[in-house]
Amino acid sequence: MVRVERLSFSYVVRGRRFPILKDIDFHLEKNGILCIIGPSGCGKTTLLFTIAGLRVPDGGSVWVDGVEVKAPRKKTAVIFQHFGLLPWENVYENIALGLKIRGVPRREIMRGVESTMEHFGITKLARKYPRHLSGGEKQRVAIARALVLKPDLLLLDEPFSAIDALTREALQEFVLRVWKEWSLTIIHVTHDIEEAVFLGTEIIVLGKDGRYDHHYTLPREKGEDFRDGPVFHDATVTMRDRMRRIVNESSL
Ligand SMILES: Nc1ncnc2c1ncn2[C@@H]1O[C@H](COP(=O)(O)OP(=O)(O)OP(=O)(O)O)[C@@H](O)[C@H]1O
Ligand SMILES: [Mg+2]
Repeated sequence: MVRVERLSFSYVVRGRRFPILKDIDFHLEKNGILCIIGPSGCGKTTLLFTIAGLRVPDGGSVWVDGVEVKAPRKKTAVIFQHFGLLPWENVYENIALGLKIRGVPRREIMRGVESTMEHFGITKLARKYPRHLSGGEKQRVAIARALVLKPDLLLLDEPFSAIDALTREALQEFVLRVWKEWSLTIIHVTHDIEEAVFLGTEIIVLGKDGRYDHHYTLPREKGEDFRDGPVFHDATVTMRDRMRRIVNESSL
């Protein structure tokens, strides 16, 4: 579904080139969940934006569903770091935004937004503004806003970073439910190792200098008490060790 080939990317600031990603190579099957982890500033958001077609690589290419990504793609939805909800619009308008941009007729927008709100149990929040929502509610609204566009690829950029541990676990389970129900392919950026192991069918570790480091595969069906079992434990230990080495190597 997603193929990234020898991808490199630099930001150019006042004529100076700052290389961020180097030779990133991976592919993700349809209906997989790829988690990208790595220390702060290593280029996770940049990689996600390149896959979304919001950044143009200097070298290499990104392919989604057999087509090279050169601009934002209709069936790719992005949930930004801190959700990216518009504070001056209510929940209904926030969810309707993407459909409006696409010029969908009003009646169809109403039908789409109402049925999606109902699906996620947020109908009663329709007239509230983002500042009146809890972190968990905001996350549901952000997911509804993405899914009303009927995407096949969902890109999530650290959607749970500001949420307490228990709510976070409930939301991770919510993402897994949505993944199954909507048969999505997901790329999820996080710097939380446990989250990556819980959600991912694959995990990529990005190094501090934007090098792609390791690729792990995890079981798709994880079962109810996966978090308490040996696979979860072993994978988190391995991953933590890898991350520690990356951070140490880059600080030498
Ligand atoms: N628009 C920009 N112009 C120039 N440099 C940028 C720009 N956006 C990001 N950077 C730099 O590129 C590097 C990678 O940024 P990016 O946001 O991709 O990191 P990240 O891994 O998502 O970090 P975090 O975990 O903190 O969200 C950082 O050093 C950042 O300062
Ligand atoms: Mg980021």
